[in-house]
Amino acid sequence: MERILIIGACGQIGVELTLALRAKYGNENVFAADIREENPLLAGTGPFAILDVMDAEATRALVRKEKITTIYLLAALLSATGEKDPKLCWNLNIGSLRQVLDLGVEEKLKIFWPSSIAAFGPTTPRENTPQRTIMEPTTMYGITKYAGELLCQYYKNKFSLDVRSVRYPGLISWKSEPGGGTTDYAVEIFYGAIREGKYTSFLSENTFLPMMYMDDAIRATMQLMETPIEKIKSGMSYNLSAISFSPKEIAEAIKKHIPSFQISYKPDFHQPIADSWPKSIDDSVARAEWGWKHEYDLEKMTDVMLENLKKKLKQ
Ligand code: SER
Repeated sequence: MERILIIGACGQIGVELTLALRAKYGNENVFAADIREENPLLAGTGPFAILDVMDAEATRALVRKEKITTIYLLAALLSATGEKDPKLCWNLNIGSLRQVLDLGVEEKLKIFWPSSIAAFGPTTPRENTPQRTIMEPTTMYGITKYAGELLCQYYKNKFSLDVRSVRYPGLISWKSEPGGGTTDYAVEIFYGAIREGKYTSFLSENTFLPMMYMDDAIRATMQLMETPIEKIKSGMSYNLSAISFSPKEIAEAIKKHIPSFQISYKPDFHQPIADSWPKSIDDSVARAEWGWKHEYDLEKMTDVMLENLKKKLKQ
């Protein structure tokens, strides 16, 4: 029987992944852990513990006590926060990964660890970025993602560890809020539109970035983890793609629902980070190897975001 531990369960991905895994594997079989207090959306849906992933002993004890077979390691500092404290970004992102990989070898676990479009850099081809290409990230977050991919690869080859990974694009969701990312504008814009009818974007109007609605991201993650190991041929993290749009384009999609919505642009320190990342991603390897297929385009994502956020914000 699969016994799952999600580390970083109270973050943007963690909350929704925990709920989806509980629905599939049973509430008691999906243990949620985070350094933060329990997210209200998780309360009462299954087991939860406060855990500092940097505490290797505590993590090991939890894994043994709960007879964990699979870990999803989601605890991390994202790109914008990472630039504010690069040392912490390295220590947390890489330190936690190494410990979980070691634990994976010791306890024979299956591991999921997310990489990102941030693993690419300004020298990477920016349109339809291929699975295998130049990787020279310039943010500390991106460096931890690229180094992390290599580390996963190393543990896979050297210790036959079953570790799987995707390069998430910017993730858009309404249940739990993102924090500290460069793609976060594409979530904030919906809050601005509903609450105030306007939004000031910290990226310029024609900054295209790869994005994805959270339901697609959760489905991709679960699909990859359920794929028989023989089909996982690509060594590194899989490119994953759904939508690519600019602040101007998402504003236009919102205007179809809220015609008075106004967007203005005030690019800040996020801009050079976004400029170093791909505009769109070629994910044909994931599609061929394990059948990945996205469902949400810009229009469908905008519909569900506005509908659900209006209910959530009661407007
Ligand atoms: N969404 C992340 C960020 O903006 C990228 O992985 O930092």
